[in-house]
Amino acid sequence: MFYEIYVPSFCDGNGDGIGDLKGVISRIPYLRQLGISGIWLTPFYPSPKADNGYDISDYRDVDPDYGTLEDFDMLLHRAHEAGIRVIIDMVLNHTSHLHPWFEESRSSARSPYRDYYLWEKEIPNNWESFFDGSAWTYDESAGLYYYHAFSREQVCLNWSSGQVWRECRDILRFWLDRGVDGFRLDVINFLKTDRAALSVDNPVENGGTRHVYDKNQKGIYEALGKISETVHAYPHKYLLGEIGEDDLYLIKSYVGPGLLDSAFQFNLGSMEKLDIAYMADQMRKMEAEGVYPTLFFSSHDMRRHFNRLCGLDPGKAKLLAMFLLTARGIPFLYQGEEIPLEDVPVDRPEDLKDIQGRYGYEKKLREGADEKAAFQYARERARDYSRGMVDWQRAGEQEENSLHSVYRRLLEIRKRLPSLTLGTYGEIRQQDGLLYYQRIWEQERVGVYLQFGEKPLEAPCKDVLFEVRDERGKLKGLLVCE
Ligand code: NOJ
Repeated sequence: MFYEIYVPSFCDGNGDGIGDLKGVISRIPYLRQLGISGIWLTPFYPSPKADNGYDISDYRDVDPDYGTLEDFDMLLHRAHEAGIRVIIDMVLNHTSHLHPWFEESRSSARSPYRDYYLWEKEIPNNWESFFDGSAWTYDESAGLYYYHAFSREQVCLNWSSGQVWRECRDILRFWLDRGVDGFRLDVINFLKTDRAALSVDNPVENGGTRHVYDKNQKGIYEALGKISETVHAYPHKYLLGEIGEDDLYLIKSYVGPGLLDSAFQFNLGSMEKLDIAYMADQMRKMEAEGVYPTLFFSSHDMRRHFNRLCGLDPGKAKLLAMFLLTARGIPFLYQGEEIPLEDVPVDRPEDLKDIQGRYGYEKKLREGADEKAAFQYARERARDYSRGMVDWQRAGEQEENSLHSVYRRLLEIRKRLPSLTLGTYGEIRQQDGLLYYQRIWEQERVGVYLQFGEKPLEAPCKDVLFEVRDERGKLKGLLVCE
C-alpha cells in the first residue's frame, strides 16, 4: 500500500509549524509499523507556493521550508532501509511563473526560452482555467497572452517543443540518479502537445466551458512514451500518472508497456456519497476492461473520506479500509485516514488557504456577489479540508481494535494471500447494504463481506481470516476463506 504524504502538513521536524522532510524521516518507523510499502511525496521543490508546491520554480532542489537535498537523500536512505519505496510528485505540465525559464521566456521574442510556453497575440480560444476564469493571461513585458490550465502562477509548458522535453528528461534523470523509485506525474493528460488544437473552442455548458480540447491532445501518447522510456531505463521504477478522467476507456489507454504503470484515476475514488451499487458496478466494469486500478477515497485534493463517505462513523471507516485492502487494485492511503483524522473546518473567508478557494472567492466578489455568497461558492471549491496538520498525539493513542490496527492487520494478511493482490474477481454482488465479492487466485478463494447497512450480517460457516464489529459488537465485515 502507498501512503500519500502531503509534505506541508504531515510532520513538522523543526518546530516552525510547517511539515518538512526531517518530519517525514522521523515518522518512517510509524509507517513501517503500519505496514506501508511505498510513500508518495507531494512536491517539496523550491516554489512560491501559489498552489502549495504544484508551482515549481526549481526542479533540482528542496524548498528551504522543507529542508535540503541532504535531508532528501537521508529520507530515501531511511525509507529504503525500512523497506519502503519512495515515489515523488513531478509537475511537468506547468512551472511557476517565477521559474527562470518563464522569466527568460517573457523577457524577449528572441529568447531561446520563448517557445517553452504558449504565447499568443490574441486569446485564441474560450478555454477556462480549472481554478476559474480565462486560461489566458496578458503579460505586460512580453505584450502577449500566455496559457495556464490552472492558476496564472502555473504556466503551462509547450510540449510541442523538443527543448522542453529534453529539459524534463534531464530533471527525471536527476531524481532517478538520486535513487527515487518512481514518480507520480501531476495532471499528465493535460500536457499541451498539439499547438494546432489551440484554435478549437471548448463546448459551452451551464454558463461555463467543458474541458475537451485542452486535454488528451494528439501527441500525448508519444510524450508519455518518451517519459516512460526514460524512467524505465532504470530498473524497477514505478510510473504513476494522475489522469483526471473517470472514463475507463480513456484511463486504460494511458496504462501499459511503454506508458504508465498505473493511473491515479477518479472513477471510484471521488464518489461524493457512499454508494455500494456504484462501487459494485465500477468493480465489474474495471474487471471487464482489464483495468488494474489505483484504489483510494481521499487525497489532498478531496475531502477526507472519514467525513465524506463515512459520516464520521468509525465502523464504516473500517469497512472502507477492508475494501481498500481486499478489492482488486493498488491501494493508496492519504495521511491521517488511518487515525482517523477529520476534515478541518472552513468557516470563515480567512480559512480559505487553497488557491482554488481564494480564486473563487475573489472572482465572485469581482462579479458583485456579497461576501456571504462569495464565501459559500468558495468553500465548496476550497481544498483546505483535508490539509490540516496530522495530529501525532492521536496517532500514538491507538487501541487494540482501532482503525489503525485494522489497516495494520489487513496489510499483514494481504502479504500472505496472493488472491488479494493477484487474484481476479469471482462473484460481485450488493444488496441491502451488503457488498460482497470474491477474490480468486489458483486454488485460493477469499470472500469479502462488507455490511454498510443495518441488516445483520450472517457469518457464513467458513474459515474466518478477519472480522470487523461495530462498537455494539455487531458483525459488520468479514474476510473468509471459501
Ligand atoms: C493536481 C494536484 O493534485 C493538485 O493539488 C494541483 O492543484 C493540480 N494538479 C495542479 O498542479
